[in-house]
Amino acid sequence: MCIRDSPYRMPEMAAAEVWEFDLASTQAVKKAALARALPAAPAHVTYVPLDLTAPDAADVLARAGTGRTLLICEAVTMYVDAAAVGRVLACAGALAAGSRLILTYLPRAEADRSANRGWSRRLGWRSAYDPAEIADRLREHGLTPLSDLGADEHQARLLRPAGRRLAVFPGERIVIGAVEG
Ligand SMILES: C[S@@+](CC[C@H](N)C(=O)[O-])C[C@H]1O[C@@H](n2cnc3c(N)ncnc32)[C@H](O)[C@@H]1O
Repeated sequence: MCIRDSPYRMPEMAAAEVWEFDLASTQAVKKAALARALPAAPAHVTYVPLDLTAPDAADVLARAGTGRTLLICEAVTMYVDAAAVGRVLACAGALAAGSRLILTYLPRAEADRSANRGWSRRLGWRSAYDPAEIADRLREHGLTPLSDLGADEHQARLLRPAGRRLAVFPGERIVIGAVEG
C-alpha cells in the first residue's frame, strides 16, 4: 500500500466504503504507517484480517462488498497458491451485477525466466498463469474478462492519463473482469 495513492488520499474515494483485506501482520504495519501519516484513521475504511490460505478465507471474503463493488487484488496472486487465487475469483464472481475485479498476476513465461529465479526464491512466488489461462479461470467463476494489460499498456492507458508517475514491475499483468447483469 502506498499511502499517497491509496484510498486514504484519493478524494474520489471519500464517498466509497472500503474494506481492506490483508494478513493481520501486514495490516498492523499498514495501520502504524497510517497513524504516523494521517491526523485520524479514515472512517470509511474497514480492516479485515485475512489469510487467503486459511480454511475460513472464503467466508471472510464474503462478508465484504454489498452492492456494486470494485475488488482490487494487486500484487498478491503470485504469493499464494492456485486454491487461494480461486477464492478471490469466487468472491468476485459472486458480487452484484456491474461489479469489477482488477487482479494482477505473473505470466508463466515471466515466472519461469531463469533471470527471475532469484526474485522467485526471495519473494516466494507460488503461482503464475498464461493470459489465456487466467481468462478461463475468470470465466469459470462467472466473470467476463474485459482486458489484460502488460506493464507498457498499464503506463500508457492507466497511469499517464491520470497524471501518475509510478514504477510497475515489468513482468506483471493486470486483468479486469466484470460481473455482467
Ligand atoms: C507486494 S504486496 C502488495 C500490497 C497490496 N497491493 C496492498 O495495497 O496492500 C503483497 C501483499 O500480499 C499479502 N499477502 C501475502 N500472502 C497473503 C495471504 N496468504 N493472504 C492474504 N494476503 C497475503 C501481503 O501481506 C502483502 O500485503
